[in-house]
Amino acid sequence: MYVCICNALNTRTVTQAIDDGAATVGQVYKACGAVPQCGKCKCTIREMLDERCPQHMTGAQGTGSLPGLPADPLPAFNAA
Ligand code: FES
Repeated sequence: MYVCICNALNTRTVTQAIDDGAATVGQVYKACGAVPQCGKCKCTIREMLDERCPQHMTGAQGTGSLPGLPADPLPAFNAA
């Protein structure tokens, strides 16, 4: 199933990014080599993060757990 139509990201790709350490929506995009466009997938990705990445919900968000990634490359996109 596609999670992000604009970037053709499917569930498997997003899940792998989260399992590899992406802890924010921005980090998921970065890990997938994608750039947010319409943003309609943001809530779905956030839900997937909440389900698969418990530390995301306990304040460890934005720790930059993926090597070489900033804590949150898209803070404005992740806000709200
Ligand atoms: S559906 Fe993901 S940016 Fe548009």
